[in-house]
Amino acid sequence: MKIFIDSADIEEIREACTWGIVDGCTTNPSLVAKTGRKFEDVLADICETVDGPISAEVVSTEADGMVEEGRRLAALHPNIVVKVPMIAEGVKATHRLSSEGIKVNVTLIFQPAQGILAAKAGASFISPFVGRLDDIGQDGMDMVATLVGALANYSYGTEVLVASIRNLNHFIAAAEIGADVATCPFSVIKQFVKHPLTDAGLATFLADWEKAKK
Ligand code: G3P
Repeated sequence: MKIFIDSADIEEIREACTWGIVDGCTTNPSLVAKTGRKFEDVLADICETVDGPISAEVVSTEADGMVEEGRRLAALHPNIVVKVPMIAEGVKATHRLSSEGIKVNVTLIFQPAQGILAAKAGASFISPFVGRLDDIGQDGMDMVATLVGALANYSYGTEVLVASIRNLNHFIAAAEIGADVATCPFSVIKQFVKHPLTDAGLATFLADWEKAKK
């Protein structure tokens, strides 16, 4: 499964990329706003750092505006994927942008029909949000399983990019379901290496090694 980092913070993106496990990056207007930096500067730094698809989201809510923004974003770097929201105008924009050869990631997907429609409209990636469904007492990963299962009956060529991942369980469940991509905050990625028995075991190995050297 591909791992994307869900961040616009260039320092943590650079750190994550030193691990050699980052296949791409997703940003959204909230993550970019948090940096306090110009969008173009954030994207330029990420494009220099991440060797893979980089999602940059439009803020227009009309198809014409989304297409105009999308063309401008896509022209910044070959790795840029234009992120559009799963609304009717976003479906129109996805169809138009993908027809021009511009890769689109359709985001804010919360039910399977949205994902199937986005795939049909030509999306390269679709982003079902897991954590926000869990937040309202629904089973986000169950929705992803339904979506992945439905798409497997067809050959749209769209990658399911699981987003709003909040913990290790989400990541593992996405892998078990066979999602193509999991986009994770660095705080979750850092949990991938953690287990108390690993830390204790290493401490014991090193202590025994030191004792033996005496
Ligand atoms: O890319 C989408 C992701 O950033 C949303 O995550 O935790 O705000 O639901 P979250």
